[in-house]
Amino acid sequence: MTELPVTPLTKNDFAQNVFGRRSIRKFDSDFKITRAEMQEILTQARRAPSSMNLQPWRFVVVDSTAGKTKLHDLVMTNTPQNDTASAMIIVFGVDHPERDDAKIYDAAVAAGTMTPATRDEEVAEIDAYYHTMGDLAREKTISLDAGLVTMQLALVAQAHGYDTCIIGGFNRAGVKQAFAPTRELHPEIIVAIGKAAESGYESVRLPVADTTTFA
Ligand SMILES: Cc1cc2nc3c(=O)[nH]c(=O)nc-3n(C[C@H](O)[C@H](O)[C@H](O)COP(=O)(O)O)c2cc1C
Repeated sequence: MTELPVTPLTKNDFAQNVFGRRSIRKFDSDFKITRAEMQEILTQARRAPSSMNLQPWRFVVVDSTAGKTKLHDLVMTNTPQNDTASAMIIVFGVDHPERDDAKIYDAAVAAGTMTPATRDEEVAEIDAYYHTMGDLAREKTISLDAGLVTMQLALVAQAHGYDTCIIGGFNRAGVKQAFAPTRELHPEIIVAIGKAAESGYESVRLPVADTTTFA
């Protein structure tokens, strides 16, 4: 089941990818990631964990001039990333991820990683849980999962030799209207991806002593 990369990762250095990553706001506008490689990047990114493995994310890869032109007016101060990145990947959250539970758990049975009896138990549990879960709890769960796949996407991009800028500053209603494949999808975040044309800047972090207690 483990999906190893088809093409070798060009920058497969964990420490460099994690600690050397910086948000990039100006990319080489002449460089285009192929759709084949983009599909591979997303195949690797979607190995991210998610609540009950419901994978409540969908991607729209905006890599055409027409798409970027449409997105330009919707990304507030983030037009430099939009206009220079190889692509802007819009990460959508799925409104009711529990509706995919049978499909996902049937696939696990077909792959031989789950018994039919366990599948039945898990699906019943998910259906019961989502039935009682309020809207706020559901939306928070979806946003958390979207955040996890976004981080994984950023790190996979590094391993392919690319850079990213995670973008939360955009017109959500406008992006939903212009790009959502269905009404049940809500834009959570956008990831600009491409070849960096600047080195970015080093950003500080709060000391662990200020952010952590032990109990
Ligand atoms: C949820 C989220 C939203 C962000 N939104 C924007 C944004 O709209 N525009 C931008 O230039 N950077 C955005 N960033 C990037 C942050 O500013 C950046 O991650 C932070 O300053 C730390 O810098 P680093 O990514 O270089 O380590 C966002 C990051 C996150 C995680």
